[in-house]
Amino acid sequence: MSVLSVLYEGKAKIIYKTDAPEILLADFKDDATAFNAEKRGTIKNKGIFNCSISSKLFQYLEQNGIPTHYLDNPNPNQMRVKAVKIIPLEVVVRNIAAGSLCKQTGLELGTVLKQPLVEFYYKNDQLGDPLLTRERLLLLELATQEQVEEIIHLALRINEFLKGFFRQCSITLVDFKLEFGLDSQGRLLLADEISPDTCRLWDTATLDPFDRILDKDRFRRDLGNVENAYQEVLQRVLKTIETNLTVN
Ligand code: TMP
Repeated sequence: MSVLSVLYEGKAKIIYKTDAPEILLADFKDDATAFNAEKRGTIKNKGIFNCSISSKLFQYLEQNGIPTHYLDNPNPNQMRVKAVKIIPLEVVVRNIAAGSLCKQTGLELGTVLKQPLVEFYYKNDQLGDPLLTRERLLLLELATQEQVEEIIHLALRINEFLKGFFRQCSITLVDFKLEFGLDSQGRLLLADEISPDTCRLWDTATLDPFDRILDKDRFRRDLGNVENAYQEVLQRVLKTIETNLTVN
C-alpha cells in the first residue's frame, strides 16, 4: 500500500489517502490542544501511545461485535482504517460527573450517575462544539432519527465493554467521546480514536482527585506527568489483553 496525499489534517491526526480508495491511513501526532485549541503543546510519544491504545480497544470492540473503522496498525503511531464520512457529532458517554457536566449543572465531581448519560455535541470548532438537543441535531440534519437511535444503542454497548475492560486495568472509565462515520455502503462504523485524549480515566486505587488522573486532564489542567500517565494506560491495556489471552 502506498500513501498518496493528505486528505485532512486535524489537531491530533493527519489522515492520508492511499492507493486503495476504501482505505485511509491515520497518523497520530504528538501535538496536544485543549479548550478549542486555545492551549497548545506537545506530549512526547502521544502519537504512539494513543494509536496503540486505540488499536487495541478497537480490536477488542470488534471482537465483541461492534463495527469499527479499524483495519490494522502498520506502525506504532499509524492506523489503517476504512474510509468513512464522519458524522459531525461528538458523542459523549458519562458514567461519573466530571468536566463540563459539573460546570453546567452543578453536580459534584465524582457523583456516580444512576445510568449512563449519552450526549451529543456539534463537532464544529467555529461554534466551539456546542451541546445539542436531539431536536437541534435533527433540525441541522446532522444524522437521521434512525442513525441517532443506532448511535445511542452502540454508544451504550461500547460503554459496557469499555467499562469492563478498564475495570480489569484497575482504571475507572469516567466518561469518553466517540465519533461515528458512514462507509460507502451507508453502514455506521465507530471511527476516530479511543485514547486518554478522548476519555477520562481514573486510577481506581488512588483516591487523591489529582493523582488519580490518567488522561488529557493532566495536560488541560497543567498537572504534570502527562507522558507517564499515557504510558501507564498503554501498559495496563497491553497487560489486560495478554492476561485475557492466557486465561482464554
Ligand atoms: P467534557 O466534560 O469537557 O464535556 O468532556 C467529556 C469527554 O469528552 C471527556 O472524556 C473528554 C472528551 N472530549 C474530547 O474527546 N474532545 C473534546 O473536544 C472535549 C471537549 C471533550
